[in-house]
Amino acid sequence: MRVVSGIQTTGNLHLGNYLGAIRQWVAMQDEGECLFFLADLHALTSNVTPQELANSTIEMAATLLAAGIDDRAILFNQSRVPAHSELCWILQGTARMGWLNRMTQWKDKAGKNREGASVGLFTYPVLQAADILVYQATHVPVGEDQKQHLELARDVATKFNTDFGVELFPLPEPLISKAAPRIMSLRDGSAKMSKSDPSDMSRINLIDDDDTIASKIRKSKSDADLLPDSFDALAERPEAKNLVTIYAALAEREPQSVVEEFAGQGFGAFKPALADLAVSVLAPVRDRLQRLLGDRAAVGAQLARGAERAQALAAPTLKAAQQAVGLQV
Ligand code: TYM
Repeated sequence: MRVVSGIQTTGNLHLGNYLGAIRQWVAMQDEGECLFFLADLHALTSNVTPQELANSTIEMAATLLAAGIDDRAILFNQSRVPAHSELCWILQGTARMGWLNRMTQWKDKAGKNREGASVGLFTYPVLQAADILVYQATHVPVGEDQKQHLELARDVATKFNTDFGVELFPLPEPLISKAAPRIMSLRDGSAKMSKSDPSDMSRINLIDDDDTIASKIRKSKSDADLLPDSFDALAERPEAKNLVTIYAALAEREPQSVVEEFAGQGFGAFKPALADLAVSVLAPVRDRLQRLLGDRAAVGAQLARGAERAQALAAPTLKAAQQAVGLQV
């Protein structure tokens, strides 16, 4: 089993990233060979400034270490492993315009101004396919929002293998967290919790202090009804459902057992309990993060070591892909 996943280095890591992806990454370190990376090249497709990008890469790397990624995994930043970009160019010949045109992230991010959107935003999923295929990954732990990009990576792998008559790329399986496939915004139960939401109140950042966490939960959107005794009964109450989902994921319990515990109570009682739970889970991560941020150079050095190991693993696959298409390497 070869596990690969990445995270785009714009802004801060939040509870959605933690529950949807990072916690799975930490757990998988004992199950297979793991490579986790900071997708700094992908970040270039957003409006990040050079200073923000540089800071975010180190801060996110430190956050992953604080969350429990350690030497069992290979941690690095994407731009330091040129094989990602080199394979991406080759795969641009395989991916079809029609496939990319159907990507919902492209449609959402480009909006109505497609002519003015960057080419990088359009070909973003091809680089993501290269990130995965360059390691011949078999499993990719991600949140539900990345499912379509994973399907594209599988299509690219299949077409490349067929077109060039090779069995180079295994088809990567997405591993989508059951407990937290899609954590929603604290302000709007129909929007996912996201780094790019302009409102900081919409998300809990892993760097937030205890009071900020508690206040964001207290002020989160909910409703005036009491909690029912069945989780399924929350289907039409998106904000309530999201808060219960967050509680269950943080406590590593089934959502049904959480609603049974709070049945008949309102959010006046539920929110303080959720705030206490969130603080108890997140405070140790934040404290470790703050210590790690005291020595940014050490985090940078760790990324450099990871990049060397990653490049060594990527090199034979890149070479095989170059040879398959007839490049003289
Ligand atoms: P990114 O940086 O948006 O998110 C990182 C991971 O967090 C998950 N996630 C969520 N899960 C549950 N609820 C949410 N609200 C939520 N928000 C984010 C994402 O699904 C993801 O797993 N394109 C990718 C980065 C990437 C990548 C890759 C991932 C680049 N190359 C190769 C896997 C394999 C992205 O922007 O994720």
